[in-house]
Amino acid sequence: MKLKPDDFYQMKGSTPITMLTAYTCPVARSLEKAQIPILLVGDTVGMVEMGFESTRDVTIEHMEYHVAAVRRGAPTTHIIGDLPYETDINPEVALLNAKRLLSAGADSIKLEGPKDEVIAHLVKNNIAVVGHTGLTPQTATSFKKVGRTASDAKRIEDEAQLIQQAGAFMVVLEHIPYELALGITSALKIPTIGIGAGPDCDGQVLVINDALGLGDYWPPFSKQYDHVSDKVFDVAQRFSNEVKSREFPNNIISLSGSSKG
Ligand code: KIV
Repeated sequence: MKLKPDDFYQMKGSTPITMLTAYTCPVARSLEKAQIPILLVGDTVGMVEMGFESTRDVTIEHMEYHVAAVRRGAPTTHIIGDLPYETDINPEVALLNAKRLLSAGADSIKLEGPKDEVIAHLVKNNIAVVGHTGLTPQTATSFKKVGRTASDAKRIEDEAQLIQQAGAFMVVLEHIPYELALGITSALKIPTIGIGAGPDCDGQVLVINDALGLGDYWPPFSKQYDHVSDKVFDVAQRFSNEVKSREFPNNIISLSGSSKG
């Protein structure tokens, strides 16, 4: 059953919200089977799947492609589509781009930063919005934790309030001190989803490639539940060895000479 913004709102303070990013159809299929209630097609796709140095290289066309793939894999799961860099530069541009992601299959839209006019405009046009504050990779100059000084912590608290007031139904808090995330979570009515923001948020999100151990760099606040990169390497080596020794495809061909399929 596809959950709606109000369902997530009801979960605040009672049921921890599980969110994972997804970029491809087969992964989305497994996440829906695992009953993950909310998938984020994040612009992290640019770094973890496309090999870009920064999420700033991601375009709206890339996002449409990935949102559509995830929708095909997870037809009954709430999907958030992430607006990439500068596609939310003003309320009208953001509305056009948000509509493109909704047409591709998203149920709601996420955007980075305290863009209250943009959020309010999308909400006025019946688009459910997720905010994002703390470390905001589209504009950050480093991936270090933010909000460590009193003034930066205040900035992030103010941004979270602004995002809520503008009408967002949820906010992602990225890479901030745990006490700051706790304070924001207690002060807001909408659920907070943490990534590198400690245990007190209303939910947690992980980049799926980090959780799978797929890639060669994982942020220190992420957890690798497996090491899929090692498995890919192992399968590639075994296949290569079997081709060279002519074991493959003989070892999948039945005695009558026809393949299993
Ligand atoms: O783009 C993304 O995947 C994100 C998560 C890291 C929250 O914004």
